[in-house]
Amino acid sequence: MKKALRALAAGAVLVGSLNAAAVAEKKDARSELMKEMRVMMEAMEQIQRGGLTNSSEEMKAGVTKLQGTLSSLESEDVKVILPKDQAYAYKFVQKTASMLRLYSDDMILSIGAGRMDDALDDYTQLLKQCTSCHIRIRNW
Ligand code: HEC
Repeated sequence: MKKALRALAAGAVLVGSLNAAAVAEKKDARSELMKEMRVMMEAMEQIQRGGLTNSSEEMKAGVTKLQGTLSSLESEDVKVILPKDQAYAYKFVQKTASMLRLYSDDMILSIGAGRMDDALDDYTQLLKQCTSCHIRIRNW
């Protein structure tokens, strides 16, 4: 009886610490993702600054910075900011990430070809992806 109780207690402690570890891991993944979000914002600011000061180098550097963050949206880790049991939410994020790739690739081409109006269109589309996810997430 005593043995069983001890085993039970040990089990409870174990489960408790496993839960704590899982919670900590989730928190880490979330703060990592938020760090990437701030890098995304810096990247968008850099692109905008490049556009306003007519510096294609700065614009390109911003696009490269943005592209460096996309793997965080594409990874499974993104699920920590999504509602549970909603497969469509994960699909939506994957679609958004691929749009960000598409328009940022296109932006590099547009800048390279000196088509600043197209580059501006790409910028608008990129910003739309950010906003559309932010609005949606708040409704989830
Ligand atoms: C797939 C969804 C998604 C996309 C796409 C997305 N975000 Fe976010 N972002 C979030 C979520 C979720 C939060 C947390 C919001 C909250 O808690 O209200 C967030 C928060 C942020 C924050 C605040 C971070 C902090 O320190 O708390 C910034 C800045 C940000 N995003 C910038 C961007 C920019 C710029 C883009 C586009 C390049 C972008 N995000 C695209 C989901 C997304």
